[in-house]
Amino acid sequence: MKFFVDTADIAEIRDLADSGLLDGVTTNPSLVAKSGRSFLDLVAEICDVVDGPVSAEVASTDFETMLAEGRKLAKIAKNVTVKVPLTPAGLKVCKAISSEGTMVNVTLCFSAAQAILAAKAGASFVSPFVGRLDDIGQEGMGLIAEIVEIYSNYEHFTTEVLVASIRNPMHIVESARLGAHVVTAPPSVLKSLFNHPLTDKGLAQFVADWQKTGQSIL
Ligand code: G3P
Repeated sequence: MKFFVDTADIAEIRDLADSGLLDGVTTNPSLVAKSGRSFLDLVAEICDVVDGPVSAEVASTDFETMLAEGRKLAKIAKNVTVKVPLTPAGLKVCKAISSEGTMVNVTLCFSAAQAILAAKAGASFVSPFVGRLDDIGQEGMGLIAEIVEIYSNYEHFTTEVLVASIRNPMHIVESARLGAHVVTAPPSVLKSLFNHPLTDKGLAQFVADWQKTGQSIL
């Protein structure tokens, strides 16, 4: 399972990249707005830090402009993944840009039917938003189970399921149980995977007992 971080905060990205656990980055217009950075500079900087796919989202909604934006973003670095919305025009852009050899992430997926369309359009990734479904009282992880099952029925569907809108560690664990290919989560949720009170308690005990030996390994 691949771990992407869902942020436009370059300091957080550098920190996680140093941990060796990071396989890629996803951004969206809301995260870019929050960062206050120039989008094109930011994407270039992230691509310098991370070797894996870096999702950069188009800003328009019509076919011609999205295509031009996607092509411009793709020129920034070879690991740019152009992110397009799951609309008829977005999927047309997906088909065109994928056939030019650039990875495409189809975002804002909220149904299995939409995920089938993304696979047929040749997307490298489809991003179902689990947290936003949970927010409206629908079972976000149920959608992941459906998409993983459907994609596994067809060898020619090479689109990876990229679980997005992750809010807690259980979303990640459940994604792994279901066999989703990728999760993208905020830095705080990725870091929370380390946490267990018994780890902290056990380590404190080992440190205290080691001090009693009066020894040093080095
Ligand atoms: O980047 C797409 C997705 O992960 C957004 O998550 O928390 O805004 O629903 P959220």
